[in-house]
Amino acid sequence: PAKPPHYRIGFAQCSSKGPWRQAMQAGMERELSFHPDVQLRTLNSHDNSALQKQQIHELIESGIDLLIVSPYESAPVTPAVEEAYRRGIPVVLLDRRTASQAYTAFVGADNVEVGQTAARYAARLLRGHGKVLEVLGSPGSSATSGRHEGFSKALRDYPGLEIVSQVTGNWTESSLKPGLVDALKAHPEVSLIYAHNDGMARAAYLICQELGRADKVRIIGVDGLASPGEGIDLVQRGMLKASLLYSPGGEDAIRTALNILHKQPFKRENILGTMVIDSTNVLTMRQQTEKMVSQQQDIERQQGLMGHLEATYASQQHALYAALLS
Ligand code: FRU
Repeated sequence: PAKPPHYRIGFAQCSSKGPWRQAMQAGMERELSFHPDVQLRTLNSHDNSALQKQQIHELIESGIDLLIVSPYESAPVTPAVEEAYRRGIPVVLLDRRTASQAYTAFVGADNVEVGQTAARYAARLLRGHGKVLEVLGSPGSSATSGRHEGFSKALRDYPGLEIVSQVTGNWTESSLKPGLVDALKAHPEVSLIYAHNDGMARAAYLICQELGRADKVRIIGVDGLASPGEGIDLVQRGMLKASLLYSPGGEDAIRTALNILHKQPFKRENILGTMVIDSTNVLTMRQQTEKMVSQQQDIERQQGLMGHLEATYASQQHALYAALLS
């Protein structure tokens, strides 16, 4: 019989949409493949705070040893996360934050820094003069507030740059179009779109193209994923001027969680770096990520081989004992 897991981690994931969340999950599972004694149970709330709250309670009641949460909106899930923490369950916040200090560790990039870096890049691109349209992520999420705050704060250093219009999205292309078309029509002077993620930036590009404005409006997104149709690809194809790297951090979250569970030293704030990906470095980025993917595949092949060898060994042992006993 298989040994029961030594540790059980519950993961309250806020969204199932898009490759970025998939990359986060894959990173977690990759890191966990080195720790077969740890079990991960993921509950996905599909962009619904009420459901996420309920799922956090369900995980607490199931007797998990540690909770990882990527909160959809900060405020609504804060009491549930606080309860886990109060009950002595270590809490790792991943990517987005709650509205409370009741957590054991945070893993993720600094969204204010992402916004600031985007603003400085926009200023360079437009040589300090231009009108900006901002496409925001879903309201109430800490990624939206951080990305907006950093951007607008840094713009204060560039009096020639101004946000003239804002459109609220939900991190995906869906339902973005009517609002964005109206905003672009109302503001023919817009020369740059700052979108809070690459999915919305891609949608913005396609809309500009339809309106015949693709060559006049420069677009910046956030995430910088390597898969086809995502940030790195969009920059390479010239659809986006830049994407700000925002790592999903799945591996890092698991490493932090394991340090906590194993009573090893860990940092409370684990801030993942961001950087501008644009035409000057996109090729290097692409080559580096391709190299990482192929190394990852090598590791997975080796793990598969090891599993195969272990199974062969076990069955040989079994046969040996059977022969000895007969
Ligand atoms: C995916 C996503 C990413 C974004 C992050 C912010 O759900 O919208 O595109 O960078 O969440 O928390």
